[in-house]
Amino acid sequence: MFIVLEGIDGSGKTTQCGKLADFLSERFGRSSVMRTFEPGDWEGGGALRDLSLNGGFEDRWSRFFLFMADRCEHLTRVILPALREGRVVICDRYTASTMAYQVFSDPGIPKKTAEFVSRLPGYLGMPVPDAVLLLDIDVDTAEARLAARGKRDFFETMGRDYFERVRSGYLRQMESAAGGRWMRIDASGAPEDVFKRIAGAALELF
Ligand code: TYD
Repeated sequence: MFIVLEGIDGSGKTTQCGKLADFLSERFGRSSVMRTFEPGDWEGGGALRDLSLNGGFEDRWSRFFLFMADRCEHLTRVILPALREGRVVICDRYTASTMAYQVFSDPGIPKKTAEFVSRLPGYLGMPVPDAVLLLDIDVDTAEARLAARGKRDFFETMGRDYFERVRSGYLRQMESAAGGRWMRIDASGAPEDVFKRIAGAALELF
C-alpha cells in the first residue's frame, strides 16, 4: 500500500506523516510500515535535496528535472523495494508536488506543455499511489504557521500568490483525479484534530 501526503508548506504534512506512521504501526507492526519523504530520503540524496531546494536556477525546468531525478533514485532504492516486501509506504510528497510547485505554480507554462509533463511519471513507470491525502489549508493559515516556525527557505520566501497557485494546482489535480485516488483532508485546527480526519481516511483505505 502506497500512501502519499501532499500539501503546501505549512500544511502540517510532516507532523501528520509521523502520526499516521505510528497509528498504522500499532495496527500492522512497526516493520510493516515505512515512512519516507521527498526530496532526498535515500543514501546520498541529501546533496540532491540541497541542490533542488537551494540552488539558483535560471531555467524553469531545471528544478523539475532535479526533483524527477531524486524521485527516480528514491523509487528504485527505497519505495519499490518496500512495496515489494508488502510494506505500507507513507511518503511525504511525490509527483503531485512536482506538478503543483514546478508546473501549476508557473502561469507561463502553456497548457499543452503542462499536460505533456503530467504524463511523464506514467511513461517512466512511476507507480501511482493507492491514495493521495491532500492536507488542504488556506494560504494565510499556512503562512502564519511557517512564520511561527521561523523557517524560511527558497519556497517559503516565494510569497502568497505563489502558494495560492500551488494550492490551486493541488486542487486541480484532485479534481481530475490525476495520479491516483485523492482524499482531501481539512488541515486547519489542532494537529490532533487534523489527525482524526486522517485516521478516518486511512481506515477507509484498509
Ligand atoms: P518539504 O521537505 O516537504 O518541506 P519541509 O522542509 O517544510 O518539510 O519540501 C521541501 C520543499 O520542496 C517544499 O517547499 C516543496 C518543494 N518540492 C517541490 O517544489 N517539488 C517537488 O517535487 C518536491 C518533492 C518538493
